[in-house]
Amino acid sequence: MCGIVGYVGKRSCLPIILEGLRRLEYRGYDSAGITILEDGRLETRKKAGKVADLENIWKSTGGSATIGMGHTRWATHGEPNDRNAHPHHDCSGSIAVVHNGVIENYRALKIKLEKSGHLFSSETDTEVIAHLIEEFYEKTTDLAQAVRLTLRQLDGTYGIVVMSARDPEKLVAARKGSPLVVGYGEGESIVASDASALVEHTRDVTYLLDGQLAVVERATVTVKNLEDVEVEKAVEHITFDLEQIEKSGYEHFMLKEIHEQPETIRNAMRGRLLAADGEVKLGGLQDVMEKLVAAKRIILVGCGTSWHAGLVGEYMLEQIAKVPAEVEYASEFRYRNPLVSKDDVVFLISQSGETADTLAALREAKGKGATVLGIVNVVGSTIARESDGGVYVHAGPEIGVASTKAFTSQLTVLALISLMLARAKGMAKRDIVALAKELDAVPGKVKKILEDAKVVADIAREFKDARHFLYLGRGANFPVALEGALKLKEISYIHAEGYPAAEMKHGPIALIDEHMPVVFVAPKDAIYEKVISNLQEVKARRGRIIAVANDDDMEIQAMAEFVLRVPRTYGFFGPILNVIPLQLLSYYIAVARGTNVDQPRNLAKSVTVE
Ligand code: G6P
Repeated sequence: MCGIVGYVGKRSCLPIILEGLRRLEYRGYDSAGITILEDGRLETRKKAGKVADLENIWKSTGGSATIGMGHTRWATHGEPNDRNAHPHHDCSGSIAVVHNGVIENYRALKIKLEKSGHLFSSETDTEVIAHLIEEFYEKTTDLAQAVRLTLRQLDGTYGIVVMSARDPEKLVAARKGSPLVVGYGEGESIVASDASALVEHTRDVTYLLDGQLAVVERATVTVKNLEDVEVEKAVEHITFDLEQIEKSGYEHFMLKEIHEQPETIRNAMRGRLLAADGEVKLGGLQDVMEKLVAAKRIILVGCGTSWHAGLVGEYMLEQIAKVPAEVEYASEFRYRNPLVSKDDVVFLISQSGETADTLAALREAKGKGATVLGIVNVVGSTIARESDGGVYVHAGPEIGVASTKAFTSQLTVLALISLMLARAKGMAKRDIVALAKELDAVPGKVKKILEDAKVVADIAREFKDARHFLYLGRGANFPVALEGALKLKEISYIHAEGYPAAEMKHGPIALIDEHMPVVFVAPKDAIYEKVISNLQEVKARRGRIIAVANDDDMEIQAMAEFVLRVPRTYGFFGPILNVIPLQLLSYYIAVARGTNVDQPRNLAKSVTVE
């Protein structure tokens, strides 16, 4: 989950690499470093801290270099300090490596290399790559070949870029499990771990596949497999705008992304939901429609917020489409030898499409013959590519580490899938039309909720010093309670728990006193009265109640200290609306506490390690 950017061309490479790193900083941000080639030598400067700190140590130097690479790190092996920051070098200092991923057998390799005289200067797994390349380079004098031979020794995952002072015109990039994309410019080439780092310079790119190695030169890029056979490279054109990945005047990416939701939810439905006809068209599922309709059960797999989307999806699929559904944490699913067969359909839900556990779950299910389908945001990501089919959520780049717009888009896609299956399984057209119209109205309702963001900001200030929070909901709104609690934990560092409201009596009720804020998700649905009983139980113990309630619910006013209003909708689409005030609440509490909202401590946007 670190970021890589490398440049070779005619222009001064430093500003291009620094800007690329800034755009990638959301992927990892505990240290950063750059290597350039200057006067025939590699010059490396690296530092614990942010890209801005790195920029300071390069000030007014390195301007003439036209080849170089940089890295922003999220530590896995070795503490985040200057020494462990990338790039890493061989003994001679003429080979440099940046690496995303984890080398699992690095200890054994390091011992062997040390025995043959190599001197290590960091505690990272990455440094063994540089020393191995050094070994092979001596024998082959061909950088790409030396990298290829090195890769054969490595167990684990990598996206790497290598440069050498002895082969000064090229970068060698290779991938296994960690994404890399190569962009083609005019007389220049850029390689990065994420297209956002290069989109400013070119939109024509090739996503490297696992097991591929690219020799990236100014005017040519050659892609080969590890057997040294050239492979045809698919050139794709990126369509998202740079504007989309910038803050557009908002103080934080997270706030911008929360406010984008009327648009992103609409985008998830665009061209897919024909509300008046009760039709749903999902091109990426067409080829597997028969399997989907015949599936004995659907398993939804994900991590973090994407897992919460799965929990809501379970309600939608069972209640709307009448298909038995189960939800699994990807990290648990992959290790418990799950009983999955070819009659099952497994949906992998992932914003990034790169989460290591979710990808491993995909491979596990696929290996057992199940049909695997992705619900993914990042186009061209590994999960999207390895799936048998799927649906892109089209939320656009999500930069804030705490997921917001991707979640509501995932829910929207799950709603579309449920409607499509319901239709295929014989639900009456007029019922589908009624539900489709409700879904179609959701973006407008989200817009209305966002107009009252200021009310949430006022409430947030009231609770900024709370030490604990409890979030309660029932049915499809239980996952909303979980998601509300997760958002608060992630960015404000306040301890928060989500619970099914009725389960409160079996434990959390012991925590309630006049200091405990309790957030109830309480729309006027079939179980409203039950939730209100739970709310009364909290009130009787003097808990401080914040309720998410419908616009026309006047009753709740007398029971809750604060009410966050949401419009009514069909019950199983309710979570798409009800989560919005909770996203805002956590955002404003974090701002009031002065935490780093977009880059919360210890977290990363995309967890590409186990
Ligand atoms: C990380 C992120 C979360 C995200 C989770 C799953 O923990 O910080 O926001 O929900 O990974 O990521 P995915 O990209 O698979 O949805």
